[in-house]
Amino acid sequence: MITTSHNLNNDTLCKTVFFETFGCQMNKLDAELSLGLLQEDGYKIVDAVDEADVILFNTCSVRQHAEDKVYSHLGALKTLKKKRPEVIVGVLGCMAQKDGEAIFKRMPHVDLVCGTRMFSRLPELILNIRNHGSHVLAIDEDHIVNVKRAVAYRPNRYQAFVTVMRGCDNYCSYCIVPYVRGREISRTIADVKEEVQSLVSNGCKEITLLGQNINSYGKGLPGGVTLGDLLSELDDLAGLERIRFVTSHPADMSRDLIRTISRLGKVCEHLHMPAQSGSDQILARMRRGYSVSYYRDLISYARELIPHIMVASDFIVGFPGETDADFQETVRLMEEIRFQNCFIFKYSPRTGTKAAGLKDDVSDEIKRARNMKLLELQKGISLEENKKLIGRVVQVLAEGASKSDTNKLSGRTRQNHIVVFNGSLDFVGRLVNVLIHEATDLTLFGTLTR
Ligand code: SAH
Ligand code: SF4
Ligand code: F3S
Repeated sequence: MITTSHNLNNDTLCKTVFFETFGCQMNKLDAELSLGLLQEDGYKIVDAVDEADVILFNTCSVRQHAEDKVYSHLGALKTLKKKRPEVIVGVLGCMAQKDGEAIFKRMPHVDLVCGTRMFSRLPELILNIRNHGSHVLAIDEDHIVNVKRAVAYRPNRYQAFVTVMRGCDNYCSYCIVPYVRGREISRTIADVKEEVQSLVSNGCKEITLLGQNINSYGKGLPGGVTLGDLLSELDDLAGLERIRFVTSHPADMSRDLIRTISRLGKVCEHLHMPAQSGSDQILARMRRGYSVSYYRDLISYARELIPHIMVASDFIVGFPGETDADFQETVRLMEEIRFQNCFIFKYSPRTGTKAAGLKDDVSDEIKRARNMKLLELQKGISLEENKKLIGRVVQVLAEGASKSDTNKLSGRTRQNHIVVFNGSLDFVGRLVNVLIHEATDLTLFGTLTR
């Protein structure tokens, strides 16, 4: 649906764009694709809103805090828009999809609201606003995203994210994603392979396949295609060195897939497989579709077949009805599994989800305390695990200058550790061996070795 209303006249040629993105990797990739399209349309990307003719926010709705941040950024643009009414302000992505028309009501200086499936038409939508001087609402749910990657704006030549499926059919009771991203749609293996091949021809060494629920890749495609089939096909591509995939859902993670990963040389030894809670009772209310013992067994199986595999998780604290005893079970699971790292979130009710009907009965103070407790616990575990690598040689894909020390390089191991090491920029884009001599909970430090 594209609807127009309200007036704003402007003949100026808008050719600079400021773009800020919030939310998950999927959103970041959509931002990259959008910027690719805009660049192809003649836009120059600028770093400051004051220099921009078009200001776009790619938004997230997963927690209230994410939305508040965008609304506050938008509010701050009111004065700029008064001074320069010809500037086009747009809201894209998940919050645009969720709030739609309501965004214009709350922020009348917004010109464009473009949902999760319409960004491929951005240049045309912006032109529409310029030519007709009216608000544009584009939140069609049936539109199928199909962006030619060849035009994509890519910040790192050696690594790329590739969307292999969009949407999510899981409907975990707390989660807004299925409502804003729609039903699962997988791209065909041929389509993904073609994109990866063109990235590899362009110098890309490592790809990360993206899907909200990537283990159910292939559902709906003819011939019973699975993620294992896709990984096997990509593993054969000459020139590609590493393959990663996120995010794994425990209920859809088959043992068959673990076996496939164990025999594919390019698939990295890293799983992001959120547990969300260590309490069966909470997992059931979250509608996650697995028990703690099922999760535990899955990790044991993966570790048995892929000895150096690292597992990362997400946890939500303060889900409705979470008692101290439930929380202690989460603590126990964390202590037992010893994740590489974890993202911890305080439960945030999302209107329209199943859990929004439950009383948000854990106080913010308790949520905060539980959050802190898990963060501290994980920090200690990450530090201990990282220290075990001191004295070892690890393989790193050199990504570029380190952000904290530009005289050094940074990169990642196959298990997804961040490594900072000495070396000249000539090494960027190469797989190198690094001897680790120091470790914090977040970073390994080392020197190049043979
Ligand atoms: N598709 C991924 C990620 C979804 S969103 C997955 O299924 O794992 C990323 C994380 O945000 C989730 O793993 C969950 O831990 C958290 N999250 C989602 N909805 C939330 C909510 N309403 N409140 C707090 N955290 C939430
Ligand atoms: Fe949300 Fe669950 Fe889907 Fe992940 S699997 S996006 S948490 S509904
Ligand atoms: Fe947020 Fe949308 Fe990603 S709600 S987590 S940006 S799919």
